[in-house]
Amino acid sequence: MTLHERASGHTGTEAERRAGKKVATEGELIHWAGAYDRLLQIGTFGRETRIRRRMLDAARVGEGERVLDVGCGTGTLALLAAERVGRGGEVVGIDPSPEMIARARAKAARRGSHARFEPAALEALPFEAARFDVVLSSLMLHHLPRPLQLAGLDEIRRVLAPGGRFCIVDFGGGGPVLHRLTAHVASRHHGDEAAGLSFSALADEARARGFEAVTVRSFRPRALRMLEGVHPRGERRPGVRRSNGAAAP
Ligand SMILES: C[S@@+](CC[C@H](N)C(=O)[O-])C[C@H]1O[C@@H](n2cnc3c(N)ncnc32)[C@H](O)[C@@H]1O
Repeated sequence: MTLHERASGHTGTEAERRAGKKVATEGELIHWAGAYDRLLQIGTFGRETRIRRRMLDAARVGEGERVLDVGCGTGTLALLAAERVGRGGEVVGIDPSPEMIARARAKAARRGSHARFEPAALEALPFEAARFDVVLSSLMLHHLPRPLQLAGLDEIRRVLAPGGRFCIVDFGGGGPVLHRLTAHVASRHHGDEAAGLSFSALADEARARGFEAVTVRSFRPRALRMLEGVHPRGERRPGVRRSNGAAAP
């Protein structure tokens, strides 16, 4: 049983059967989807939407773009991204937790959103190469042991179109006390191997994979940091056009 399952007293098997597909991953799943939304509202003092929009601004998500949100949870970020890209764009959220996907789908249906949600894991994305203009990841990487974080970077590179960009926001900011606290939480999930999320190490790994303009930035709230990078433009996909009619870069 995982830490989250112990914390929530819920193994998720009922809901997994209801939501169908079970996704294999060593990532730390969250099964308490309803409580998760309430927790975020409380934890952000009601400013969740504002913080999500800040991330979309930073990632410069715009009309007609194809966006993938990896580890989308209950879909709040993806739903806001769908408003930005409009009907000419596309937003897909993936998460291996069937409860998270079920809740994200219900929220999308309630709001009439065109965002789609699929059960899948970052390290094995069910999409062809060069499929997206933007990959977003919010508060998710610390749920993965180090080898999966690196496999995830490989997958992000594979599914991004040339000139496409990724934007990762996660714990890693703040002073030494906060940093030690988040490192402690991560090491409880994954053992010493993870020992927190090193943004500078991840940035080096992104550069080693050919990403350009790789930058680590502070983010608000201060407990968070942001890592972004751009897929090299050198690899062209002949004949592929964006859904808004513009030629892919
Ligand atoms: C703290 S939540 C963040 C959810 C959402 N992105 C947000 O910002 O609220 C972390 C999410 O990562 C998901 N997760 C765990 N392992 C994963 C994996 N291998 N690939 C993708 N998502 C994963 C969990 O199920 C959970 O929904």
